[in-house]
Amino acid sequence: MSDPMNMNKLYQPDNVAAGPYIRDPVPCQQVAESKKLILAAAEWAQPGSALILGAGHCAELPLKELAARFENITLNDIDNAVLDEGLSAAGLTDEERAKLTIHIADLTGVTESLISRIEDILSADRDPQAVIEAMAHLLDTALVPGMPITGKYDLVIASCVLSQLHFGLLHRARLAFDRQFPGKDELLADSVRWTSALFEMARRMEQRFIDNLADHVAPGGFIYLSDSTQICEVKGTPEGKWETAGTQRMLRTRYITDYLDQRFVSVGRERWDWVVTPPLQPGDIGRVYDVQGVVLRTWRT
Ligand SMILES: C[S@@+](CC[C@H](N)C(=O)[O-])C[C@H]1O[C@@H](n2cnc3c(N)ncnc32)[C@H](O)[C@@H]1O
Repeated sequence: MSDPMNMNKLYQPDNVAAGPYIRDPVPCQQVAESKKLILAAAEWAQPGSALILGAGHCAELPLKELAARFENITLNDIDNAVLDEGLSAAGLTDEERAKLTIHIADLTGVTESLISRIEDILSADRDPQAVIEAMAHLLDTALVPGMPITGKYDLVIASCVLSQLHFGLLHRARLAFDRQFPGKDELLADSVRWTSALFEMARRMEQRFIDNLADHVAPGGFIYLSDSTQICEVKGTPEGKWETAGTQRMLRTRYITDYLDQRFVSVGRERWDWVVTPPLQPGDIGRVYDVQGVVLRTWRT
């Protein structure tokens, strides 16, 4: 995940009272739990085609087992280099590799055009506040076309990509702003107008993504959907505990199931901790994500 604590102006604090809170250390379950639930979904699905969205480093994906089960697998990510690394690390045989189709694409379908229009706005005005207003207005009015992907798949896997869809827009807009107004990128990051527009855009990207999941799953097919719904920065204490100021929501609500509706039937659900850089010494800083995974089935029609 890229730089999550820098994004916390977009995240909503979830604690009623301010911290600090003390937590017991927990082990990282991300890879084991993700693979377990994906494999369950793979066994339930017909062994025809699978689509993996935001496959990235493929660390959470049982790629070899999926290649053994499915006739063909389409892997998507916006980042070619990351996916290349992930595939190299997966240690696939030539036969397994031959089943894969790589599809590099932005699943929102809108980031590139928004960035290009933001660059136009930036080059047309020298007043940073006027630029921020125009950028926010652009987001307010932009439609989200969604995935440039065709076809229907027996299994669609979306492991920890839902919460990331707007990251490209966020980071690239900030870089473009900083290029035009060097040293003033905090003006954008601190702008309530911009942050609110981005927050709403992120929610629209997520909703479109959920609609696209339904569009691309075959009748009676399965979906594996997981994400880090909350993030918590933790610091090691001399007593061996973890101290935190509290948790922040990364999605619209703290439950991934709030994204689901009558199009989906939930047939499996788990919740686990994803610990990134666990604090090993007092004062070390780490992050814990609350990850929720669901296996969904669509109705046969
Ligand atoms: C947290 S990682 C998921 C990790 C991956 N599923 C794994 O098993 O290691 C999120 C991935 O989503 C990709 N991503 C983020 N926004 C995207 C977008 N708009 N379109 C396609 N992929 C995107 C990122 O490049 C990254 O590889």
